[in-house]
This record gives sequence, structure tokens and C-alpha cells, in this order.
Amino acid sequence: MNQVQIAFDGESLITPELIAADGRAIDGHPQSEQFATARVQLGLVMNIARQRLEAGTAPAAAVGYLLETLHDMRRALDPAVWQELIPLAQDHPIAALIHQDPLTQRSFEKPRGYSGDAGLLDLIYRHPDAAETVAQSTALGQAIYDYTSHAPSCVAARERIEILARHVDAVTAARGGDSEILTIAAGHLREAELSSALQGGQIKRWVALDQDPLSVGLVARNHAGSCIEAMPGSVRGLLGNAYGIGTFDFIYAAGLYDYLPERVAVRLTQKCLEMLKPNGVFLFANFHVDMLDAAYMETLANWPLILRSEEDVWNIMRSSVDMNTVDAEVELGANRNMVYGIVTKRG
Ligand SMILES: C[S@@+](CC[C@H](N)C(=O)[O-])C[C@H]1O[C@@H](n2cnc3c(N)ncnc32)[C@H](O)[C@@H]1O
Repeated sequence: MNQVQIAFDGESLITPELIAADGRAIDGHPQSEQFATARVQLGLVMNIARQRLEAGTAPAAAVGYLLETLHDMRRALDPAVWQELIPLAQDHPIAALIHQDPLTQRSFEKPRGYSGDAGLLDLIYRHPDAAETVAQSTALGQAIYDYTSHAPSCVAARERIEILARHVDAVTAARGGDSEILTIAAGHLREAELSSALQGGQIKRWVALDQDPLSVGLVARNHAGSCIEAMPGSVRGLLGNAYGIGTFDFIYAAGLYDYLPERVAVRLTQKCLEMLKPNGVFLFANFHVDMLDAAYMETLANWPLILRSEEDVWNIMRSSVDMNTVDAEVELGANRNMVYGIVTKRG
């Protein structure tokens, strides 16, 4: 239940603490002027996009208009007002059209019970394993998918697996082969398909850990007989030293920090640095605070993320380790929708 509902449920006392808890509750109240105006604007935008989709002439342009206009609204509005708009956007009849797109639909429905499962990532990657799902979609759904799967976040995510594979290969080359790698929240470990070090048999051990048994099973099947060890496990297990998996030359997490509050992100970073060998590298990726399709994702895809700036990533690293003992850098992906924190432990 959000702050505003608590305040006006007739039971709870409206206290300064309650108002201050969010810091935005007054402005964000549904009856505020800003909310009233924004709700009308949202309805207009959604209706225009719906008419364009129903006309069927240029579905990509219609979704593009929607995505960009929602982005502008999200950026301009008080964050609490934007939060109040999200359920209204999700209830709009345009959802029946937009959710013909298999990507937006899977994100919204969450068939595995949580956001961002590896099957959804396969749709984002336009991976061959997702082709049948796309082919079974309506013509409108496929046209929308052609747009959404090329949205900035998806482009950034596709680049991310290339970057990860490059790091695996570089770390392996730097230590002359026999590298040991740990992937946290591995999903389907699609970056492994891009790693020449893996194909060349230069990796000693690649532990791919994920909490979803279906994803772990797929990785185990796809990489049977290789150095890849698919392993069921969670962040909580790692933090509690539950696995006894040793130390690594390269540890990374992609598609995970976007769900972790700073406190947990710091604890996980500390744990990963403990598990690094001297000269080992730790990398984490996070969608960037200026991600252009965040508003679309939060509304029609029902996929809120913790977006971070370069400074947020520096703060996680600074809070995790004595910076005199590591070499640290923060990098942006090519379209600036993804930010990477990279820490090398000095030997
Ligand atoms: C967005 S996907 C990213 C998958 C993969 N790393 C990639 O980039 O394609 C998020 C993954 O994190 C896993 N996950 C989420 N929370 C987790 C946790 N607490 N411990 C381990 N895995 C987790 C999910 O099962 C899912 O496979």
C-alpha cells in the first residue's frame, strides 16, 4: 500500500512522519493539481496511441510516440505523481494491443513469478530460442516487438552480453588461460555463446549461479560436458557463505544490481571482492538513471528497476572497499543507457 492510500484509508493517522516518509506525499496526492492535469494528459496520450495502433498503418511510430511521450511525462512530473499514474496507464485499454508484443506481454505477466526472467531476456536478445514465441504472435504484436526489442534498454542489454564476453576473454587471455569465472544471476548465460575463450577451451571453470531452477537447467543442458557449472543459488546464499565455491579471476553480475537496494548492493560487492583472486576483476552492470524507455517499462511492461547514475555506482564501490587497494572505473555503454562498475583487486 502506498503512502497516499495509507493516509486516506480512514484508519491511519495522518502524521508529519507519514508525509515526510516519502517526502513527496503531498504533491503526489491524487487530488493535487499536478496529478489532475497529468491524468488528463496521460489519457490523451494513451488514446492517441491507441487510435494509431488501431489504424494499423504505422505501429512502430505509434509505440515510439507513446514511449517518448511517457518518458517526457515521467521526467517532468513529481516522482510521487508519476507513481500514481502507473496503475492508470496499466489499466488503459491500449494494453490489449500493446500486450500482443511478446516482449511487453511476458514482462507484464511474469510467468515465472518475478521480473526479468531469462526467457524475457531471450526476447530482448532476439535470441533464436525466442523465435517461435515471436512467430506465434499476431502481426501487430510482431510489429510492436520490432520496435520494443530495438528500444534503448534492449540495445544496451544486447551490448551488455558482448561486453561481458569480451571481459571473460580478456581476463582469460591476461592470465594465460585456465581462468576461473563466476556469473551471479546468470539467467541463460547467453554471453557464453559469444566467448571465444570458452570455445577455445581456455577456461578452467565457469560457475553460473541463478535462483531460477529452470534457467539453471537450461544452462546445464546447453553446456553439458564443458567447463560451465550451472548452479542453483542466490544472493542470500552467497552473502551467507553457503556454497564454498572458492575464488575467481572474474566475477560479474548483469541484470541483478537493478533490483538491489544500495545496502544489499554494497554487501554483495564486498562479498564478490572477497571471492576474487589477486588481480581478479569484479564487474556489475546497472541500467542508467537516464534510460529512455524507463517510463514505458514501468507502465506497460510493469518492470520497475532501480536505475543508477555514474555517481551511484561510484558510491557503491566506495562503500564496499578501500579504494587504495583496488583499481576502479565506471563506464557507460555506447547508448548511455547502461552503466558499469569495474573493480580490479591489486595483486
Ligand atoms: C534480468 S535477468 C539477467 C540474466 C543474465 N545475467 C543476463 O544478463 O541475461 C535476472 C536474473 O537474475 C536472477 N536472480 C534474481 N534475483 C536473484 C537472486 N537474489 N539470486 C540469484 N539470482 C537472482 C533471475 O533468476 C534471473 O535469471
